[in-house]
Amino acid sequence: MSRTVIRALCGSIAAFALVIFASEMNPSHAEDSALSNPGVGPVTKIDVGPIDPKLVDQGKATFASKCSACHKFGERYVGPDLAGVTSRRSPEWIMNMILNPQEMIQKDPVAQELFGEFLVPMTFQNVSEPEARAILEYIRAQEKQ
Ligand code: HEC
Repeated sequence: MSRTVIRALCGSIAAFALVIFASEMNPSHAEDSALSNPGVGPVTKIDVGPIDPKLVDQGKATFASKCSACHKFGERYVGPDLAGVTSRRSPEWIMNMILNPQEMIQKDPVAQELFGEFLVPMTFQNVSEPEARAILEYIRAQEKQ
């Protein structure tokens, strides 16, 4: 082998090693990737803007009747503590968890992990997509306090 070939080989091995190293340094744990993970369900992309107080009020009422049996803010209950959930999960993921919990628990790694911890499956509460959006707004408003 000529010296140039050896040099080129060494160069590409070093570059390859660097790429592997860089990807090891950036592990994608379920927790880290959750914020960019939309989950599984009807919601693929939503844009959230400044908090809409009217929507918050609607969401608050629906939350009280359909979610508060299992969730609180600031305390673990039948389900996870929802305080800080908007900084752990994407808005799409949260809506898909509300609208499609059964499939989420089956297919989404983060939801699977939660189910493994809580051992109770979150159930679909007959919530429409606009209702789920309002609940999301209520959850977002809780985080701002
Ligand atoms: C029967 C109890 C129950 C009801 C009712 C329920 N949930 Fe859940 N929820 C859970 C459990 C348990 C989990 C954890 C995943 C699992 O085990 O299925 C969960 C997970 C979640 C998560 C993910 C939390 C996290 O830390 O990522 C969100 C968000 C959520 N629920 C929102 C809601 C909303 C909003 C409602 C009302 C529409 C609702 N849930 C109704 C039990 C419930």
